[in-house]
Amino acid sequence: MGMHDKLEQLKELRAKVHSGGGEKRIAKQHSAGKKTARERINYLFDPGTFREIDVFAGDPDQNPGEGVVTGYGMINGRKVFIYAQDFTVTGGSLGKIHAQKICKVLDLAMRTGAPVIGLNDSGGARIQEGVDALNGYGEIFFRNTIASGVIPQLAVIMGPCAGGAVYSPALMDYIFMVKETSQMFITGPQVIKAVTGEEVSMEQLGGALTHNQTSGVAHFMGENEEHCLDMVKQLLGYLPDNNRETPPACPAKEPVIDREKLLNIVPDQPVLPYDVKKVISAVTDGSEFFEVLPYYAKNAVIGFARIDGQSVGIVANQPDFLAGCLDINASDKISRFVRFCDAFNIPIVTFMDVPGFLPGTAQEFGGIIRHGAKMLYAYSEATVPKVTIILRKAYGGAYLAMCSSSLRADMVYAWPTAEIAVMGPEGAVNIIYRNEIAKAENPAEERNRLVQEYRDKFANPYVASSRGFVDDVIDPRDTRSKIIDALKLLATKKESRPYKKHGNIPV
Ligand code: HXC
Repeated sequence: MGMHDKLEQLKELRAKVHSGGGEKRIAKQHSAGKKTARERINYLFDPGTFREIDVFAGDPDQNPGEGVVTGYGMINGRKVFIYAQDFTVTGGSLGKIHAQKICKVLDLAMRTGAPVIGLNDSGGARIQEGVDALNGYGEIFFRNTIASGVIPQLAVIMGPCAGGAVYSPALMDYIFMVKETSQMFITGPQVIKAVTGEEVSMEQLGGALTHNQTSGVAHFMGENEEHCLDMVKQLLGYLPDNNRETPPACPAKEPVIDREKLLNIVPDQPVLPYDVKKVISAVTDGSEFFEVLPYYAKNAVIGFARIDGQSVGIVANQPDFLAGCLDINASDKISRFVRFCDAFNIPIVTFMDVPGFLPGTAQEFGGIIRHGAKMLYAYSEATVPKVTIILRKAYGGAYLAMCSSSLRADMVYAWPTAEIAVMGPEGAVNIIYRNEIAKAENPAEERNRLVQEYRDKFANPYVASSRGFVDDVIDPRDTRSKIIDALKLLATKKESRPYKKHGNIPV
């Protein structure tokens, strides 16, 4: 065969692989509201930048591409690796070569220090390949673990993801799901019915809403595939390429919300709720906030924003939901986010308004001690710049857990409305003045008087300021400029911890 014929053969072979499972299966994929692996890749990468690798791996006649498309390209001008499972080829099921292709991309991403995206759409372990398929999963899990904290790893679920296969996404940093067309579960509806008798649909069991709202397994929910992939791109914009770099800086933008508004968000009455996202949007560039896990544990708010062009991770209590109390789910949500920001050099800005940990047997039996401890651990461990703003309530252990100066916040600002105390005035008065209230002629009146007295004396920012636990009490309108000052100051922060193999965070 001469060169001309060889080139023709190469072209034919490549075209064969590119056609995946064939027209019929592609049409089935489309009619299910799903794109093919290659269409998804084209949507995600800057035009003309995707470079496929391992095109001819496996048997192109039997399984073109082995059910997964792998390679790298540019997203908004930055290098990103990808593997996209191709459901049109043996249901995107994972065999030995399929796994090897994914592992090669993970290895390359780690060696070159670039994020990796996994688009999951698969019937799971390729049944015909038995233990080779299982071993393939194990090789991927190992790499996901080793890459954790080294490069950002994003998992997008765009079809079925069942059995042990769910654990690769679970080991990555963020999980995106598409409404109606993606599901994750360990055991499917049929097995559940056989074992426990429960009847549940695939979508109810493991759909996007379930994992975004109820289980907290998934962090983002797309209305459709395009929306989901748009969010992936948006998230990447806040992240560095790897743990040795800082996130890309953007031109600074003023918030679109007038800073005067900051005077009227927190109600004068300490028991009244408000939406902390109004505070966040009044201080961030362009008033933009990319919220993570917005439907889960809504008593805590976490997400990314830019302040003066720099990426920051924002953590806040949400007084609009459960009065902003910390509970098991909120503790998990915040702790993992703090550790992510710390691993990837993203400063953390914490807005505190917390009445305490949520009381009750459900919380105690569920292990709030163990879960709440994660927050103390995560904030203490974090060496990135940490700026805390106390808006109103800062009570007890929850005050410490929301990045107090004792957990090494670098700068703590309090609004004049801040109440920093061991516990709320009502609870405190009931305990320390129990006898006085009981003996009073009008116990309710006496109680109110003592609550006011306690509030004036202890529940303000000045006791903590007098001890140096608060660096400054600020006009709420100056919040953004104070954060910018602090971040500039802390840009050269260097802090190390004693040598250890690794710590032992309570999980
Ligand atoms: C081999 C598979 C496959 C698999 C699907 N296919 N799953 N081939 N191994 N695991 C093939 C089908 O034979 C079919 O081939 C094509 O993919 C599309 O599948 P359909 O069933 O036609 O599609 P659909 O009706 O959309 O149903 C999708 C599905 C279903 C729900 C995912 O295929 C399914 O239940 N598959 C088996 C899922 C499963 O039990 N996997 C093993 C889980 S255990 P043709 O040629 O007809 O197009 C596991 C362990 C991992 O994953 C452990 C890790 C530690």
